[in-house]
Amino acid sequence: MKNFEFKNPTKIIFGKGQIEKLSQEIPENAKILMLYGGGSIIRNGIYEQVKEALSGYEVVEFGGIPANPEYSVLMDALKVIRDKNITFLLAVGGGSVIDGTKFLSSAAEYEGETPWDILAQKIPTTKAMPFGTVLTLPATGSEMNSGAVITRAETKEKLGMGGTGLFPLFSILDPQVIQSVPSRQLVNGITDAFTHVLEQYMTYPSGAILQDRFAESILQTLIEVGPKVLDDPTDHVAASNFMWSCTMALNGLIQKGVPTDWAVHAMGHELTALYGIDHARTLAVITPSHYKFNFETKKEKLAQYAERVWNITEGSLDHKASAAIEKTEEFFNLMGIDTKLSAYTRDYHGTAEEISKRFKERGWTGLGEHQSLTPDDVQEIVKRAY
Ligand code: NZQ
Ligand code: ZN
Repeated sequence: MKNFEFKNPTKIIFGKGQIEKLSQEIPENAKILMLYGGGSIIRNGIYEQVKEALSGYEVVEFGGIPANPEYSVLMDALKVIRDKNITFLLAVGGGSVIDGTKFLSSAAEYEGETPWDILAQKIPTTKAMPFGTVLTLPATGSEMNSGAVITRAETKEKLGMGGTGLFPLFSILDPQVIQSVPSRQLVNGITDAFTHVLEQYMTYPSGAILQDRFAESILQTLIEVGPKVLDDPTDHVAASNFMWSCTMALNGLIQKGVPTDWAVHAMGHELTALYGIDHARTLAVITPSHYKFNFETKKEKLAQYAERVWNITEGSLDHKASAAIEKTEEFFNLMGIDTKLSAYTRDYHGTAEEISKRFKERGWTGLGEHQSLTPDDVQEIVKRAY
């Protein structure tokens, strides 16, 4: 196990009916900007619950943050923060609204001229406007981590940011919110969380016995409850376990002391930036191809995953490792997720070269747990995912 430090300051308030606790968590004299997406919260009643809980506060609203939060929209929200002297941000939504809010919390305190530099120049956020979240869609783990991903349509870019200042002060997780989530987004949530675990697990053995078992138990839970939430989102046991699995998949715990990969996300983000494909679906496209390409360096963990998660106990190590890749792809396919790029766009020719070129330009010349994946390798992996 590698040396590590671990601190996660986000307070989680979990369970049915917990949105009413909002007022206990926000400073009394706060001037709040409530941020949300395209309006699902108005249709499903979460908006009402939040407004009622905030009745004693001065609240300004900013709706319309799109999926894959868009920089130009967020710049409009930044103007509201400045014009209205906002002191506290409240995100009510899924990963996109929460990430957009994180960007704003950072940009509000940023002293440079162009907030895009926070992303383009990878400036870590240590000082930020305080914010909390009411999660409406389990998937990204953004509700309990310090990362965000922002899209800029103008340049077809999608870049990450982070820093110790970007942990939410609190996040309210009421599993009942999933009842209104369309099945396409539930499937995305299961797939995103599943891949988050894989990115922190599918590397090489590092003597982190407990972290491996944390990771495997999240995967097993997602495999068990995923089909149940799709079948009946009112099943509270399934919904609670789904929601908590998504949070635990990316709140920092399982990545401590272990090597991590994250190349699947790096390539996936480009597919969203270029073609607007849902984040989770880009991961399902890249994952099988990435594991096949990196088979030799990942096969020990692939075989361990095969045995412990998929119960494949027969055959050689290579056989188990290959079967694990097949099982993973099958799991995505069974939920209705296509795992080939050509299923999402007819324009896929040249994609691999374009992504490889972008990585070269950004100096991303060594991805993966060994920092050894070159832009040429990336080109090959994306090509094999066509
Ligand atoms: O915009 P509204 O109307 O709210 O509708 C949303 C949106 O259309 C809808 N939705 C959310 N909650 C709902 C609901 N519909 C009905 N009932 C509810 N309760 O779902 C749609 C998708 O929402 P979005 O927030 O985009 O989904 P998700 O949570 O999957 O977030 C994806 C974004 O997070 C980033 C992704 O790249 C993408 O931009 N990620 C963030 C990470 C992080 N901060 O740690 C890590 C991830 O790997 C990921 O990159
Ligand atoms: Zn993800």
